[in-house]
Amino acid sequence: MKADVLLGLQWGDEGKGKIVDVLTPKYDVIARFQGGPNAGHTLEFNGIKHVLHTIPSGIFHDDAVNIIGNGVVIDPVIFKWEISALEKMGVDIKKRLFVSRRAHLILPTHRLLDAASEKAKGKSKIGSTLKGIGPTYMDKTGRNGLRIGDIDNPKFTEMYEALVAKHAQLLQFYDYDYNLEELEEEWFEGIDLLRSMTHIDCEHYINQALKEGKSVLAEGAQGSLLDIDFGSYPFVTSSNTICAGACTGLGVAPGKVGQVFGIFKAYCTRVGSGPFPTELDNEIGEQMRQVGNEFGSTTGRSRRCGWLDLPALKYAIQVNGVTELIMMKADVLSGFDKIQVCTHYEYKGEQIHHLPYSISEDVVKPVYKKLDGWNNDLTGLTEVESIPSELENYIRFIEEETGVPVSIISVGPDRKQTLHRKALQEAPVLD
Ligand code: GDP
Ligand code: IMO
Ligand code: MG
Repeated sequence: MKADVLLGLQWGDEGKGKIVDVLTPKYDVIARFQGGPNAGHTLEFNGIKHVLHTIPSGIFHDDAVNIIGNGVVIDPVIFKWEISALEKMGVDIKKRLFVSRRAHLILPTHRLLDAASEKAKGKSKIGSTLKGIGPTYMDKTGRNGLRIGDIDNPKFTEMYEALVAKHAQLLQFYDYDYNLEELEEEWFEGIDLLRSMTHIDCEHYINQALKEGKSVLAEGAQGSLLDIDFGSYPFVTSSNTICAGACTGLGVAPGKVGQVFGIFKAYCTRVGSGPFPTELDNEIGEQMRQVGNEFGSTTGRSRRCGWLDLPALKYAIQVNGVTELIMMKADVLSGFDKIQVCTHYEYKGEQIHHLPYSISEDVVKPVYKKLDGWNNDLTGLTEVESIPSELENYIRFIEEETGVPVSIISVGPDRKQTLHRKALQEAPVLD
């Protein structure tokens, strides 16, 4: 068996949580491969809305094993909150959630460093979620970090204190006030909870599962345009959010990757700073934000909205090797007379169809094609055959432009508001 991968193709918040939950009945194992509590993955079913940050989105299904992979960074405090919320809902969490020994820990001082660094950057701040993600991955690559496997080391407290002492020096440089003791109590409670969980070597576990014929779905966080290498640097997160991140974040060899499901919204959103060529700083963007409820699942911040950007989508499809597309939030575009899609950019006096090194507004100007919109409320649809012809045309246009079939269309936040679409026979296969 090969592991399938599901990941975001834009700037995050595409709806990964919802679709992982929808697909989980087909899988034995769901494994998060990168990111940490900067993620907020929303699921809705039976009138319940739930947001997950560190825990994979297959957790509500009795038969699936959920794994937090080695590529993930864990804040014990947020992890503890997540576990207690799930336990209150009757989820037997300890039986179905395993944590990689190689996953790194977010310390309270990582969060402080994140906040201090953002404050020092002033206007040029990244707009980080302030969850300590950057500093934790810096310690991972700088070979200073603490891992889940270290919790059982009798010298864990000493190791913790040594790292905190380094951080204290850095915080002095920032001239940043803080009270660490206040934060530490809850953190060590979280460590006790993590100690009681099942720790695994996820690279062995997943490869063994694949050998035994079990099906595995790797769940990404953030989106491809926030990737540390291929995103709009420096306004990115600190991990590889693309498909290759599933290999390094779980220990799955590239040849063992099967389907790559790429999720995108029918339009674009971005939260935090950084370039966004198709951003609509007007009433159309505001309508998208209100109808789409575009406010961050983790921070509550208002999301910036804009039309679909095909050069960016094609770029993400290419770097991920996407085999199937999943279009989210089609319902939000109902009621627009015309739907616009950016087909290419004007760049240094030329027309280009790819994503250049810089996508700042002074470098690229998006060029749009107008398609007919639709007025129908899509949220009650149960069959793909009932979608309006204008939406079908929009989807076919995207398939033709990208060469990848759209296999799912989401028309609302609930599990049930999901339309499965047969791949168009004529849709060309990506080479
Ligand atoms: P994720 O981070 O990729 O899992 O996405 P988020 O949960 O941060 O953001 C997606 C938001 O859109 C959540 O509030 C979902 O409940 C909601 N959502 C998901 N799919 C749809 C859809 O098809 N239509 C609408 N209207 N909302 C959706
Ligand atoms: P999910 O998994 C949307 C953004 C932040 C900021 C930048 C860096 O829910 O799609 P970080 O805290 O990672 O250092 O922030 O990345 N960001 C996200 N935006 N969805 C996310 O996750 C995000 N995780 C980080 O807003 O611009
Ligand atoms: Mg999110």
